[in-house]
Amino acid sequence: MEHLCITGGRPLSGTIATSGSKNAALPIMAASILAQQPVRIDGVPQLRDVCTLADILRSLGIRVSRLEDGGLELATVDSLPVRADYELVSRMRAGFCVLGPLLARRGRAMVSLPGGCAIGDRPVDLHLAALTALGAELKVEHGYVVGRAKRLVGAVVQLSGPRGPTVTGTANVLCAAVTARGQSVLREAAIEPEVVDLGRFLNAMGARIEGLGTPTIAVEGVEQLGGSRYKIIPDRIEAATLLLAVAITGGRATVDGLVPEHIDAVLAALERSGCRIDTTPHSVCLTGPQRPRAQDICARPYPGIPTDIQAQWMAFLSLAQGRSTICDEVFPGRFMHVGELKRLSARIAAPDAGRGDGRVVVQGVERLAGATVTATDLRASAALVLAGLAAEGETVVRDVYHLDRGYEGLDAKLATLGAAIKRI
Ligand code: EPU
Repeated sequence: MEHLCITGGRPLSGTIATSGSKNAALPIMAASILAQQPVRIDGVPQLRDVCTLADILRSLGIRVSRLEDGGLELATVDSLPVRADYELVSRMRAGFCVLGPLLARRGRAMVSLPGGCAIGDRPVDLHLAALTALGAELKVEHGYVVGRAKRLVGAVVQLSGPRGPTVTGTANVLCAAVTARGQSVLREAAIEPEVVDLGRFLNAMGARIEGLGTPTIAVEGVEQLGGSRYKIIPDRIEAATLLLAVAITGGRATVDGLVPEHIDAVLAALERSGCRIDTTPHSVCLTGPQRPRAQDICARPYPGIPTDIQAQWMAFLSLAQGRSTICDEVFPGRFMHVGELKRLSARIAAPDAGRGDGRVVVQGVERLAGATVTATDLRASAALVLAGLAAEGETVVRDVYHLDRGYEGLDAKLATLGAAIKRI
């Protein structure tokens, strides 16, 4: 197993480019099941999660090829298989995104329930209720969702639960609705840029979707979808992670090739913490403060601060002047990184039943101290890397497997900006 060894204390500087979005690429790849002709997707990052989804798609009769120029080509070569296996789907929840496309295109599906994961209980009830409303017959048998649908029928469906709209649920239902008979209306749908990107990809293949980026999406079903060539959006979570890396080291660097509006809430919070932000339409230059100002952060659905950047914020605020609080309305238990950040001398109190408000209290310290730490999920790993960049001495982040699932060469990018980071 590979680890990362970081010698902290070097302010980052220079310019680095953002990769394509993981969470846009995955549902878009799954949606290629719907296409009658080959599709070509540009900007798909080289990630373990992308490889896992490619393996799931291959097992479903899709030929997936990386072209020399980095593009990804997907074409159906066998439309009979309908089973997405537990072994693969349990490795990556986004595998569940094949359910909607399979029901719509092949009329049958057998997709493993993804199960729990390190960031908490992650139910799929909203996916199943909405697909059922579109006419799919679904049952859960031996850990699999087994479904049938002759031709799906448009309906009004609801995509929000107690924690807000579901992102991959909206993706699944959008894919199911595009070739359903008649009109569908998706209410309280996710408005994340990745969902908008999927919708645009489907429209590029001939779908008729309106209202993308708003909570009410209208879909006029079409007979079938053709092929398409499509470029996915930049990864806003990677961009925000890189900016926080610059900020935590008190450096000055530019993150290029992103869409600044996608991280408006993050940029505003960075400014509140004392960072200087200069934006162009495609880049952000950040100058970090000597020490950040404390503030209260709450992760919320888009356009709020994303849950996928909450752990990285905690690393940053652990060095703030004063006391901050952090909560996560999307995944209220996504605090597995607290214990590991404390190993780096952060002063953090996890939410306790007594206080009952789900907030983590971070009492800023002047210095973090390097240590060996282990992460249990992707974004927690990124938070530990950021903390290591600022900590005194050497930090070893064990098991880069998680980082490689969702960041394209994060360590190499940080090294380009001057970080002392190597794989061991
Ligand atoms: N929820 C339900 N029922 C459902 C589905 C979700 O109650 O049927 C709840 C969840 O438990 C959670 C909330 O609704 O409390 C939102 O979950 P959502 O379904 O939106 O999450 P997801 O679609 O499974 C995607 C991203 C996650 C990201 C979340 C929230 C992908 C492949 N994954 O997950 O990304 O944290 O949206 O923005 O797009 C990551 O990249 O590290 C990551 C975990």
